Amino acid sequence: MDKKIVLTGDRPTGKLHLGHYVGSLRNRVRLQNENKYDMFVMIADMQALTDNAKNPKKVRDSVFQLALDYLSVGLDPEKTTIYIQSQIPALAELNMYLLNLVTLSRLERNPTVKAEIQQKKFNRSIPAGFLTYPVSQTADITAFKGSLIPVGDDQEPMMEQAREIVRSFNSIYGNILVEPEGIFPPKGQGRLPGLDGNAKMSKSLGNTIYLSDNEETLYKKVMSIYTDPEHININDPGHVEGNIVFTYLDVFGTDKSEIQNMKDHYKHGGLGDMAIKKYLFEVLNKELAPIRLKREEFAKDPQMIYKMLEAGCDKANITANATLREVKEAMGINYFG
Ligand code: TRP
Repeated sequence: MDKKIVLTGDRPTGKLHLGHYVGSLRNRVRLQNENKYDMFVMIADMQALTDNAKNPKKVRDSVFQLALDYLSVGLDPEKTTIYIQSQIPALAELNMYLLNLVTLSRLERNPTVKAEIQQKKFNRSIPAGFLTYPVSQTADITAFKGSLIPVGDDQEPMMEQAREIVRSFNSIYGNILVEPEGIFPPKGQGRLPGLDGNAKMSKSLGNTIYLSDNEETLYKKVMSIYTDPEHININDPGHVEGNIVFTYLDVFGTDKSEIQNMKDHYKHGGLGDMAIKKYLFEVLNKELAPIRLKREEFAKDPQMIYKMLEAGCDKANITANATLREVKEAMGINYFG
């Protein structure tokens, strides 16, 4: 009965890539299949709109793409409630009450938000909804009494802020909300570098492999991967550290001894970039082909996808409404019983 609640979400601003897969998707599927938790996965369209108010179509299209990505990697709507943030009115309502428990200066100190403001070049023109999204995210989590939140390392400040808000709420109104705790990827495994050698795989850097990329695109992208700029002739000794082909092989390859042999060979010289890239292509394609195939199948039936999401929203609304009722009662704003 009292299974712990695992809750997480993504902003629908594009399709998911290999970095998401390594950093969080695989982990979620694993948690789902342990059958030990109640899992909620939310498509955070309201949060996406906080810095995409002028791009509603991008957000709407990405909701659908994200749902396809979820299903194709193995999230199962029978086991995991998959839903859309904007369709759960209790989240917006709870956000209004939580906003009163946080100050502007505290919001401005959130290091992830600070970094995003710089990166998005908002200067002083920060959308108010954007600055306050950590509070909305606290509502996302607390409305479900989520206690375990699998997220990327950049979300730790959100968890900390959420805990502060929960403590503040509970000390004023009574012990209603649950303090969440982040579950982070194991050290060194949370972040997949980009094809170009950049520390982060990211859409804005154009260095990604999408889960939806077809075989041809995958092949082209693998052939473009950053290797070792000093490895010019096949017989030159090559570097393995910082060589993205080997970084990916370490993450995705299953034949560890074969990979070790290739590393040794590459270091001594005599193993060409083309050969290691072809090997990596096979490894990645083996992992991605079944995902791609499922994605294509699901994409044929958009109605089924929206039906699945609608059912998820119905379920999510039951839980979120129940928490909101408790919250309003605790706050004494339940005037009519
Ligand atoms: N901010 C999260 C991200 O960018 C997405 C998100 C929204 C989320 N609401 C959430 C994550 C609630 C966990 C819990 O990845």
